[in-house]
Amino acid sequence: MHIVTTSVEHHSVLHPMNYLETLGFDVTYLPVDQTGRVTAQQVEQSIRPDTILVSIIYGNNEVGAINPISEIGAALGKKDILFHTDAVQAYGNQQINVEKEGIDLLSVTAHKLNGPKGIGFLYRKHQLHLPHFIHGGSQENDHRAGTENVPYIEGFAKAVEKLMVDQERNNQHKQDLKDFFIEELKNKEVIFHINGMKDDSLPHILNLWIPHLQSDKLLIQCDLKGIMISAGSACTAGSLEPSHVLQAMFGEEDERIHESIRVSFGKQNTQEEVTILANVISDLQNKYTH
Ligand SMILES: Cc1ncc(COP(=O)(O)O)c(C=O)c1O
Repeated sequence: MHIVTTSVEHHSVLHPMNYLETLGFDVTYLPVDQTGRVTAQQVEQSIRPDTILVSIIYGNNEVGAINPISEIGAALGKKDILFHTDAVQAYGNQQINVEKEGIDLLSVTAHKLNGPKGIGFLYRKHQLHLPHFIHGGSQENDHRAGTENVPYIEGFAKAVEKLMVDQERNNQHKQDLKDFFIEELKNKEVIFHINGMKDDSLPHILNLWIPHLQSDKLLIQCDLKGIMISAGSACTAGSLEPSHVLQAMFGEEDERIHESIRVSFGKQNTQEEVTILANVISDLQNKYTH
């Protein structure tokens, strides 16, 4: 049986796909363009008579690229193929409509919404029957055994409630910080390129190539100043593995893979903090290139 996904999924999808391959499933990892996206045509062309599942990340966690989910949903149409999207980064900042977009399964995690760590949800289209994913008791409609963690569930629900109230203002704040950061870098004459796109991307994520400045050097300086940024996914912030997302976008040999950083903006971040980061980058670039 065949599954289609992309080469830029978060490891939470990529690694299970790798595991499914060991069980005998055939997985197609679609390549992306330099903006970090796949097209609906690519997905359509990869479909085979034995395709059972398509899983495409909604908004990429490293570069912020947003995939054409509605078009992919439409391309899959009434085919007997499940369509899952990892909406962990997109939930709360994109207008997601599972029915209109033809989404059967959608995953979200609470900690990206300022909710508790350790809980997420999987939206499942009403008619869909899913087998147990943990065997045991019959909790959660027989899908996930184990006594529910009510405090986490309540915390998650509260986070979603709060998110909905301030949604527009928060997203605007993050987008403004992103724009401000770019302006600050330009004002300080930092040489940089955006990996992906500034607009038409998730408002809170920015990935920059800063030529001639090794990302590990920059990460160390940031760490010393209490600034938490990463070179790839925030979940791999402690690892020096090159980003699989940048490799998929630019090729394994591109120098930008070792000279890029990923910054994400939260609702509590301020312009002052952004300026501190811009100063660190500017100072280091001056130090290493002059
Ligand atoms: C796009 C994306 N998918 C999945 C995850 C994983 O979520 P969790 O750590 O809750 O499994 C993350 C990061 O946390 C993410 O950014």
